[in-house]
Amino acid sequence: MAPIDTSKKPIVWVLGGPGSGKGTQCDKIVAKYGFTHLSTGDLLRAEVKSGSERAKCLTAIMERGELVPNEIVLDLLKEAILARAEESKGFLIDGYPREKSQGIAFEENIAPVSVIIYFEASSETLTQRLLGRAASSGRADDNEETIKLRLKTFLDNNDLVLAQYPDKLRRINAERPVDEIFAEVQSILDPLVA
Ligand code: AP5
Repeated sequence: MAPIDTSKKPIVWVLGGPGSGKGTQCDKIVAKYGFTHLSTGDLLRAEVKSGSERAKCLTAIMERGELVPNEIVLDLLKEAILARAEESKGFLIDGYPREKSQGIAFEENIAPVSVIIYFEASSETLTQRLLGRAASSGRADDNEETIKLRLKTFLDNNDLVLAQYPDKLRRINAERPVDEIFAEVQSILDPLVA
């Protein structure tokens, strides 16, 4: 694929546990900075809906709160990035990497990450938020049992992912009001687009 000039189009990984507010903050980032938002969860749910061959195994894995195979996620991301590379002002990669090897594969196959924003919140807060969202989200994985499994998958992998990028990692306390969190997000992104 054509290389992405990350000095002109920053690549931001947006990480955090299930329900930490990745999607909520990405919406605000898109509104202010016009970046292209690619959520791996959304890409996977769209793939499931499409009924494609590679989607067949996905539903069961996601309902178990486990990670889908790396090649599938990376292929979906690559396709989406490539399709938007020309017009994009920068990419928000939401929910990726969730495993050390995913980060390595991304940087080898796509481009180096510019900065990593990590939304930090306790398991109790994450669980409460997802249970609160369950009534309206229509998501098959927003139920008590799957939320527990999603949290376990996250906790099993997260430290290793974060430890890999000490210089690019920015931790944000996500147990605050949305706008307070976004103010801190802006202090990280403003220098990237200056
Ligand atoms: P994905 O869709 O990415 O789900 P997730 O990581 O569990 O995160 P969510 O989208 O549920 O939450 P969020 O952090 O975006 O929070 P939100 O803003 O919605 O992934 C689903 C599945 O796909 C995975 O389990 C896995 O199987 C698979 N998958 C995805 N990526 C993969 C990968 N890279 N590799 C392999 N498999 C992968 O907020 C949640 C709620 O909290 C909302 O109701 C919101 O209004 C509220 N809220 C947000 N911020 C605040 C705040 N500051 N205060 C109070 N409430 C708040």
